[in-house]
Amino acid sequence: PEIKTTIDKIIDQAKTKRGGLMVVLNETQRAVGYLPKEVQSYIAKRMNVPPSVVYGVVSFYSFFTMIPRGKHLIKVCMGTACYVKGAGKLLDDVANALNVEVGKTTENGMYTLEACRCLGVCSQAPAVMIDEDVVGKITMKSFMETLKNYQ
Ligand code: FES
Repeated sequence: PEIKTTIDKIIDQAKTKRGGLMVVLNETQRAVGYLPKEVQSYIAKRMNVPPSVVYGVVSFYSFFTMIPRGKHLIKVCMGTACYVKGAGKLLDDVANALNVEVGKTTENGMYTLEACRCLGVCSQAPAVMIDEDVVGKITMKSFMETLKNYQ
């Protein structure tokens, strides 16, 4: 019920804007954390959009997620430059260190680990992104150090 009130508010504010659905999905994800099926159906109903369209948009854009994410989102860049500089091993090491599979969230709900495309800092390869912050020239050691700032 609380979630519905939140979504209602978001919809009311976004209704008149262009790209209303995208705005609503974005803000709902920010507020709720993710976009499960029930939330999608509710948005579809309230906005008079076919559920299949909402689902299509959510599954098309990788920044939308249907499963809950952890408090912090870690993305390891698997773009070419980073890959060449050992991003594959880095991703593997991070997964082991946090005891989590890629695409999943740690048991304590702290971290979600994902692989991603080029973060745009290829000269700093290998790079990771933690929440909104891009960190380049990362090693396992500097990664673990940096992670201490995200508790
Ligand atoms: Fe990783 Fe470009 S390939 S930042």
